Amino acid sequence: MRRSRWRALGVAIAALAAIAAVDVLARHAARREAAEAPGHGFLAARARAQDGKAKFDGSASFKVNCAFCHGKEGRGDGPASYLLWPKPRDFTKGLFKIHSTQSGDMPTDDDLLRTITDGMPGSSMLAWKWMPEDERRALVGEVKRLSVFTDEESGETRNFFETRGAGTPIVPPPEPAVTEKTTAHGKAVFFRAGC
Ligand code: HEC
Repeated sequence: MRRSRWRALGVAIAALAAIAAVDVLARHAARREAAEAPGHGFLAARARAQDGKAKFDGSASFKVNCAFCHGKEGRGDGPASYLLWPKPRDFTKGLFKIHSTQSGDMPTDDDLLRTITDGMPGSSMLAWKWMPEDERRALVGEVKRLSVFTDEESGETRNFFETRGAGTPIVPPPEPAVTEKTTAHGKAVFFRAGC
C-alpha cells in the first residue's frame, strides 16, 4: 500500500518536473525569438509608444497581428495563408481592391485605414476596430512600406506608393435633377453599358 503511494507521488513529481521543463524550454525559445527580432513583438509595439515620436510601431504591430496571414514581408504567404480563400493580399503586387481613387491608382491612407478598420466581409480579413486609431494608422504606414517591387531595369527595390503616388479620390458629382431629359439619358446609358 505504502509503496504504491510513494510510487504515485513519484509519478506526480516526475510529471510536474516534465511540465516545468517544457515551460522553461518554451520561455527560452520565446526569449530567443524576441532577441533575434529586437524591437518586434506585442510588448515592443507598446514600449516604443512611450518614446513620444510614433505612438505605435507599425512594423511590430504588423508582425504580431497581421503576419500570420499576410507573411512577415507582406507577400501574402503567412503560415495560415494556405488555409484561406480568398488568399491574404500580397502587398508586393501593388494591387488593392478597395480604393476611392481611379482604377489602377493606389489607395489613399484613408482608404487603407477604412479597410483595416472595417475588414473585408466575405473573407478572413478581420475588422480591427478595437485597435487604437494610432496603431491602425501606423499599420497603414507599414502596409505601404511593404508594398515594394524590384525595378526590372535598374534591379532596385522600389515602392509602389512612391512611384505611382496615392492618386486623388473620385468625388461623386451631385445627384442630377430628375427631368425628362436626364431620365432619357439615364435609360440610354443603362442599355449601352449593359446594366
Ligand atoms: C486571418 C487572416 C488575416 C489577418 C490576420 C489579416 N488579414 Fe488582411 N487580408 C486577409 C485577406 C484574406 C485579404 C484579402 C481579402 C479579399 O481579397 O477579399 C486581406 C486583405 C488586406 C488588405 C488589402 C485591402 C485591399 O484593398 O485589397 C490590407 C491592406 C490588409 N489586409 C491589411 C491587414 C492588416 C494591416 C492586418 C493586421 C492588422 C491584417 N490585414 C490582418 C487576411 C488577413
